[in-house]
Amino acid sequence: DWTSDVFIDATIDELKEKIGKDKVVMGLSGGVDSSVAATLIHRAIGDNLTCVFVDNGLLRKNEYEEVLDSYKHLGLNVIGVDSKQRFYDALSGKSDPEEKRKAIGNTFIEVFDDEAHKIQGVKWLGQGTIYPDVIESVSVNGPSATIKSHHNVGGLPDFMKLKVVEPLNTLFKDGVREVGRALQIPENIIGRHPFPGPGLAIRILGDVTPDKVAILQEVDHIFIQGLKDDKLYDEVWQAGAILLPVQSVGVMGDERTYEQVVALRAVTSVDGMTADWVHLPYEFLGKISNEIINKVKGVNRVVYDISSKPPATIEWE
Ligand code: XMP
Repeated sequence: DWTSDVFIDATIDELKEKIGKDKVVMGLSGGVDSSVAATLIHRAIGDNLTCVFVDNGLLRKNEYEEVLDSYKHLGLNVIGVDSKQRFYDALSGKSDPEEKRKAIGNTFIEVFDDEAHKIQGVKWLGQGTIYPDVIESVSVNGPSATIKSHHNVGGLPDFMKLKVVEPLNTLFKDGVREVGRALQIPENIIGRHPFPGPGLAIRILGDVTPDKVAILQEVDHIFIQGLKDDKLYDEVWQAGAILLPVQSVGVMGDERTYEQVVALRAVTSVDGMTADWVHLPYEFLGKISNEIINKVKGVNRVVYDISSKPPATIEWE
C-alpha cells in the first residue's frame, strides 16, 4: 500500500546509501518536480547538495525572487544566478522558435556548467525526472529537459559526466505532488501550473527583447492573478499569455492608437499531450481584458485562444 510517508523514508534511506559523503549539484526550475527531488536529496545528504536556480530573464513577474525565497525557507543550499543579459544576448535577433530554444538551452548549459565548476569534488547530478519522462524519453518541462535535449551538442560539458540521481523516476505527477505536500513544500510550488523551460521566450512570437518581456510579464501577471483571485487557477491545467507580432488599430480619447495584441490561453489536460481550451466565464474574460488594456502600456487588444490540442499545440511556438 503506497503512502507518501513510506516512499519518503525509503527514498531517503536509498539516497543516503547511494550518495554517501559525495556532493551533488542540481538545477532548480521553480516547478514541482525539481523542487520535490531537491528537497528529498537535501533530507538525505543536507548541504552536500548544492542547488542552482538561474534567472534567465524569461520568468514571470517576481518569480525569481519568490521562488528563491521559498527555496531558502525550505533550507536548501541554493545559489541564485542572475544571467538575464546572457540569455538576452543569446536570443538577440533570433525569431525562429527552434533557434530560440537552442540558444536558451545552450546558454543554460553554459551557466550551469560555470556554477557546477565552482563546487569542489562534485560527483552527482540531481534531476527531477518523473516516470512519464522516462517512458517518453523526452521530458517537456524544466531544466532537466533542456539538458537532455542538448546531449549531443558539441563536446559534453563537465557536469554531464556526473552520475545521475533521479529520486522521482518511478512517480507520476500526482504522486510527486503528494510527496511534496508531505514534505511541506509550499503550495505556490506544488500547485503551480506547468511552465516551459524556455519560459516567456516562446510566448513572444518572433524576436525577444527585454521590453517585450516586460510587457508580457505584466499581462501574464494580471491574467494569472485574476485566475487565483476568482478561484479558477486550480481548475486550469496551464494558462498564460502570448505577445503577438501584430499591431492593431485602437482608439483612446480622440486619438487613434496602433499597438500590440495579446492572446490569452487556458487549457485543461492530463499530461499535456492533448488539451482542451477552458470555457472561462465571459465576465472574467471581460474583466481581465479591461485590466490588461488599462494597465499595460503598449497593448490595446486582447483575444482568447479557443483552439484545442490537437491540432493546435498549447504553446504558440
Ligand atoms: P505543446 O505546446 O507542445 O506543449 O502543446 C506541451 C507542454 O510542453 C510545454 N512545452 C515545453 N516545455 N520546453 C519545455 O520545458 C519546451 O521547449 C516546451 N515547449 C512546450 C508546454 O508549456 C506544455 O506544458
